[in-house]
Amino acid sequence: MKYYIKTFGCQMNERDSEKIESILQENGYEISNVKDADIVIVNSCAVREKSERKIFSEIGRIKNLNKKAKFISMGCVAQIYPEELSKISDVVLGTTSLYEFKQLFNDGIKGTFISNTIQNPDYVFGHLKNIRAYVDITYGCNNFCTYCVVPYTRLREVSRSYKSILEEIKEIVEFGGKEVILLGQNVNSYNYEGLNFIGLLEMINKIEKLKRIRFITSHPKDFGEDLAIAISEFEKACEHLHLPLQSGSDRILRLMRRRYNFKEFAKKIEYFRKYNPKGSVTSDIIVGFPQETKDDFKKTIFALKEIQFDEIYSFKYSNRPFAKASLMPNQVSEEEKNERLLMVQEIQSKISKQINNRYFGNIEEVLLDSKAKLANQMQGRTRTNKIVNIDNVDFTLKEGDIVFAKIKKINKHSLNGEICTN
Ligand code: 5AD
Ligand code: SF4
Repeated sequence: MKYYIKTFGCQMNERDSEKIESILQENGYEISNVKDADIVIVNSCAVREKSERKIFSEIGRIKNLNKKAKFISMGCVAQIYPEELSKISDVVLGTTSLYEFKQLFNDGIKGTFISNTIQNPDYVFGHLKNIRAYVDITYGCNNFCTYCVVPYTRLREVSRSYKSILEEIKEIVEFGGKEVILLGQNVNSYNYEGLNFIGLLEMINKIEKLKRIRFITSHPKDFGEDLAIAISEFEKACEHLHLPLQSGSDRILRLMRRRYNFKEFAKKIEYFRKYNPKGSVTSDIIVGFPQETKDDFKKTIFALKEIQFDEIYSFKYSNRPFAKASLMPNQVSEEEKNERLLMVQEIQSKISKQINNRYFGNIEEVLLDSKAKLANQMQGRTRTNKIVNIDNVDFTLKEGDIVFAKIKKINKHSLNGEICTN
């Protein structure tokens, strides 16, 4: 028996797909192409209108390619539009209800599974034996930023027990995983029976055989000097911070309900860099939020120049169901949004290039996690999360190795390096 799965969206969705795949594999299914599959799954993203629309067209496309397979829709769109999806799916699986998937193999592959809380948050789902493995530490979100659909697609925040997190990471290192990427909408608000995020990091840092810890995403309002210090002190915690700014204008930040201003944000970056001087910082930016004037936008440009992020993910604001901002007056025109997005990307691309150029000649610790595009190369990441392609001259390197590489070439989205022997 065979399955095919297509995943849209963020790392949480990638992890959710893995959970479903591990259940399928436990039940004797193997991965295949669409046409040969007995079960076809689409894991959907609702974060922007475009991603949501894509799901419906993708389902149509896939169903044309394979008319006989059982069709399962899951993910964020499934959670908010179960009725629409149940008309075109055998199974609709909300983000809350992945645990229910286990049961389907006994009860028949059909039905709609949606709940208003996360089912069984402490359940330890299987992994697909990757060198870098995602581990959920919290589910859901309580922040209600006015542009965001996530509190509706992933519901209220729940912290997983540290016992289940540690058990999962121990399983990961047993099969050869070397790095964990802790996932939560706001990892800083982790709280399980009084244990906070730094306490959790301290426990994970002690796991033997684990080499690296990363986490996404931190909310700027909750990121503090204590975590900046913890990252520098826990040797496995990598020196990379993803801290979404969204806008450089205090007025827009207030309308977004972000609960920090630019000055406070800049202070957090300063803390991070003070204790992690070689660290990298990435961010998310939204352009064209309702009422964003040219003057507000200029403040975002100023912020990019001021902070000097290593990389940003930039998006045009998109109206989302349930999210308050979609009701706000003075929406920015599509044309204006396009222009602003281009400008942000141009400016950032120069900044990223300048920062990456500084890596030239550096000796970097690289964890190899996959094969590179060229047959005689391996790919890995620096502690700061830069992708490095390394010549695998005698084919002696393998996934999971940690090597030291001298950076000899800077590409647009990666670096090239060669192994240092001394
Ligand atoms: N429109 C545009 N971008 C959005 N994001 C979240 N919601 C929206 C929206 N409605 C972006 C934010 C967030 C990232 C994951 O997606 O920048 O940090
Ligand atoms: Fe991830 Fe948000 Fe998209 Fe859901 S809506 S897949 S949580 S980015």
